[in-house]
Amino acid sequence: MKDEWMTCEEVAELEGISVRAVQARCARKTLPCKKIGGVWKINRLEYEHQKGKFLVTQKKQILKSENSTVKSALVFANAKGGVGKTTLSVVTADKLSLLGYKVLLVDMDPQGNATTFAGLQPYRGTGRPGNGEYKEALHDVLLGQVFELFGMENKIRTRDAIYPARGFYVLPTDNRAERIKYWLLDNAHAFSTGMDLYNVWTEHFPFLLKNALKEVEKDFDFFIIDTPPEMGWATTNAMMCATDIVIPIELGNFEVAGLEMVFTFIDQCAVKNPKLKILGIVISRYGPHRSRLDIDLEDQLRKHEIWGPFVFQTIIYRTLLVREATNAYKSVFEYWRKGMSRDSLQSLDEFTDELIMKLILNNKGLDNIEAGEKL
Ligand SMILES: Nc1ncnc2c1ncn2[C@@H]1O[C@H](COP(=O)(O)OP(=O)(O)O)[C@@H](O)[C@H]1O
Ligand SMILES: [Mg+2]
Repeated sequence: MKDEWMTCEEVAELEGISVRAVQARCARKTLPCKKIGGVWKINRLEYEHQKGKFLVTQKKQILKSENSTVKSALVFANAKGGVGKTTLSVVTADKLSLLGYKVLLVDMDPQGNATTFAGLQPYRGTGRPGNGEYKEALHDVLLGQVFELFGMENKIRTRDAIYPARGFYVLPTDNRAERIKYWLLDNAHAFSTGMDLYNVWTEHFPFLLKNALKEVEKDFDFFIIDTPPEMGWATTNAMMCATDIVIPIELGNFEVAGLEMVFTFIDQCAVKNPKLKILGIVISRYGPHRSRLDIDLEDQLRKHEIWGPFVFQTIIYRTLLVREATNAYKSVFEYWRKGMSRDSLQSLDEFTDELIMKLILNNKGLDNIEAGEKL
């Protein structure tokens, strides 16, 4: 285990500054330090929390293995729209990829917002798509799985529909995915000779995405799945491959009451996918000014018998940065560097840090005793 106290040399190297500069900070008490044997030492845990360095220096050792294999399939879900599911899925994909993980963002919402935010456009010509364009998409992959299910040839590999975006990869979608549901309703009976149609709907169709993603499981550290604002067919497919769920909500009486429906749905899904667990509820698109009502609603949510323990400490504030970055098809982290205030990025940055920390603590597969003890 690493020493509880860091030397000035260690901090200097991490910060990319001189040892004298670190000593000067210690003297000014701007670092969590004390003199031990006449030499300044910095408390490792406090320092890492303060700087978010925990993530950069230690998390990789915990989460990263030599060969990628999916450690968490993270689903952002809520029956409500406009609560930040897409924004947070993409921001999380950005952050994890910035930290060096291989991330696949799966867009299960036929509106295709995550696909667009990640900078991908549908290719409308013939031949090979160019940079930032996609041709095969989620609906091809899912239909391929349906064909396979009914004993026909599946000509599409999942890999064919995965495209590089900035830093991470995307399995894109558009409104063609919505039509699959109706196509299945119209045609399934024609294929399913000898199969009980009810059985096909309940036992097979919810697992199309899971089966499709098996092919690429060894290529990624994380799957991040964005879902539509309904607890329907697409979200059920996402839940069947999920290990962790994040529920973004906006504070409001109806929004909080809506959690009951989401929890019930998750409970039903967990019967078929025992790995499913709720990572947390995150209060999103908050403020910028806190009203008395906001404070009361937040307080009620945090104290709620069932939901309270799931609520993330971090609150996502409403910020222009999100809208501008989305509009520019850029990562908020990349966009922020163009000289905006640190505050605009802070809640998103802290949210992703907390999310990763929760993954480390909650997931057996991610456990590292040494780090666990320190936490
Ligand atoms: N923290 C935020 N600050 C400002 N605008 C936001 C924030 N989060 C989301 N938005 C905006 O709110 C709208 C809905 O967010 P979105 O992520 O698409 O929600 P959902 O996927 O749940 O429907 C989008 O226009 C998005 O840009
Ligand atoms: Mg969305």
